[in-house]
Amino acid sequence: MTVTPHTFGLRRPMIACATALVGLTLAGTASAEMARVQDPGLQPYTINGAEISEPLTAEPGDAKRGKALFINRKMGNCLTCHTAPIPEEDFHGNVGPDLAGVGSRMTAAELRLRLVDAKALLPESLMPSFYRTAGLRQVKKDFVGKPILKAQEIEDVIAYLQTLK
Ligand code: HEC
Repeated sequence: MTVTPHTFGLRRPMIACATALVGLTLAGTASAEMARVQDPGLQPYTINGAEISEPLTAEPGDAKRGKALFINRKMGNCLTCHTAPIPEEDFHGNVGPDLAGVGSRMTAAELRLRLVDAKALLPESLMPSFYRTAGLRQVKKDFVGKPILKAQEIEDVIAYLQTLK
């Protein structure tokens, strides 16, 4: 497993604690819509309907870093499939919906599940599952056992998407 320890650093125990609490609160009210997911080497998270309500990290997302990841063709590579209000970038795609205004249409919790695992919403989705290491098909060799985006990077991209009002 090649997730670098410094990615989580001292935040990890806090997050484990927070998610344990969530686990406890859900225990009494568990419905078919709730699922707890824990892939090797990744933070566990809980899917509740179309949402992951709890942030993956204690540190809030940074919209500026998120925009850089969004554009980066080796990281988010979001523009391959989406158009976004980033006129300085060439070659926007139209495989997925235009993301202009997505921060008004969707909550952070909805964006989080979309990014972590779009296939949890739509099994045949063409959108990559950016924060999964298990149960994937067609994984590039470099990404076997690693998520495409780390937990903090997911939160950063969410913060950027929320600025698209
Ligand atoms: C290979 C193509 C592809 C890539 C790459 C991709 N997406 Fe998507 N995305 C889609 C498709 C297709 C949909 C429509 C729903 C579906 O099919 O899952 C979608 C849906 C979405 C939605 C929901 C929008 C709405 O209005 O309903 C968001 C938000 C989103 N993508 C964000 C991103 C971000 C951020 C990235 C980069 C980190 C990204 N996508 C990368 C294909 C892609």
